Amino acid sequence: MTKPIIAPSILASDFANLEREVKMINDSQADWVHVDIMDGVFVPNISMGLPVVEAVKRHAQKPLDVHLMIVHPERYVEAFHKAGAAIISVHVEACPHLHRNIQQIKSLGCKAGVAINPHTSVTELENIIADIDLVCVMAVNPGFGAQKFIEHTYLKVKKLRQLITESGSSALIEIDGGVNLQNAASLREAGADVLVAGNFVFSSSTPKEVIRQLKELH
Ligand code: DX5
Ligand code: ZN
Repeated sequence: MTKPIIAPSILASDFANLEREVKMINDSQADWVHVDIMDGVFVPNISMGLPVVEAVKRHAQKPLDVHLMIVHPERYVEAFHKAGAAIISVHVEACPHLHRNIQQIKSLGCKAGVAINPHTSVTELENIIADIDLVCVMAVNPGFGAQKFIEHTYLKVKKLRQLITESGSSALIEIDGGVNLQNAASLREAGADVLVAGNFVFSSSTPKEVIRQLKELH
């Protein structure tokens, strides 16, 4: 098995030292920088906006994986693309016109992802899976970092892996929320390709070492 893609979530980083935190990611074995955008409407929290993404982009040497937890993402995807996003994920629960949203993201030259909340079945993706580059499976209810991993996620990942294989899609499976070294190996076994980790990386006194340990999983 190939190595997992590791995407540290800067939501858990020290915003007063964002340059230092992004440079830590540059110097680590991480692959992407995960950026959580929350609007206080789709989720009960507000995180960061476009100027912060632009600031991260100025220092980041790795692709920005932008997770939009917002309503009406079609109003903002172009701006996030301009701010430096390489991958943009929108929530199926926030998008009545998901197919249109995906086409818009792809037309900008970005990779397109769809995120699903813990209660959302992977069958919701049946008619879009062939068109997308990534599925972001939420392993916590979106809105906050440092929450407890929901165990039901393993089953969803297995079902999603099956859906991807059957449909011939090349979508990657990303797990977001509560990822740590206790669950990462089982997530990989279930079929996960990308591991997002916020609190587990940034609360460590040796974040690069934590990233290395996640990366070394098979
Ligand atoms: C939650 C965010 C996650 C979060 C993950 O709404 O989408 O990306 O930053 O943080 P941890 O790894 O601390 O659960
Ligand atoms: Zn996220």
